[in-house]
Amino acid sequence: MNIADIATGTGIWLNEVQTTLGDIPVNKSRYYHGFDISDAQFPFSTEEVQYSIQDALSPFPAQHLNRYDLVHVRLLVGAIQASDFEVIVANLMKLLRPQGYLQWTEIDIDTFLEGNTKKYPEFADMVQPIFSYAERHTMSTRPSEQPGVEICVVVAQKPNGAGD
Ligand SMILES: C[S@@+](CC[C@H](N)C(=O)[O-])C[C@H]1O[C@@H](n2cnc3c(N)ncnc32)[C@H](O)[C@@H]1O
Repeated sequence: MNIADIATGTGIWLNEVQTTLGDIPVNKSRYYHGFDISDAQFPFSTEEVQYSIQDALSPFPAQHLNRYDLVHVRLLVGAIQASDFEVIVANLMKLLRPQGYLQWTEIDIDTFLEGNTKKYPEFADMVQPIFSYAERHTMSTRPSEQPGVEICVVVAQKPNGAGD
């Protein structure tokens, strides 16, 4: 199983996933790759977990195409324009194997507040482009399993037989 984390920062999410999955024995190898526009926070790479500098807005190197079962993104909306979604999601879909999943998670503070007060509309504004993108592309969205803490957007499952 291969998992990629985009805008990985310190690699904290990859590290948690590697630890969690590490408790589940499998006879296939696992490979994790973190990408970020900056290597300032990268931990050391290992054979199983590697990191590389990559702008999500630019095409990814050929060795990463059609390679991943899961491509994950978290907390990126603050650094991109709403109009960047088209290019970024297209780039990330190319990383997936057929039937692989793209999962994009962002914070929605308003939902976290009791009564959904709309006290922090700037967060809602930042995440809105994800929902409108998903709607335009008939992709599924769902809330996080921790209600109110985050929104978790399962943007897409790459169709079987699709090329990159
Ligand atoms: C708020 S941090 C999130 C880090 C990590 N995803 C997490 O959840 O801990 C945002 C990260 O996005 C990265 N970033 C910003 N613009 C980017 C881009 N165009 N392509 C890739 N990474 C980008 C930043 O360098 C930073 O590490």
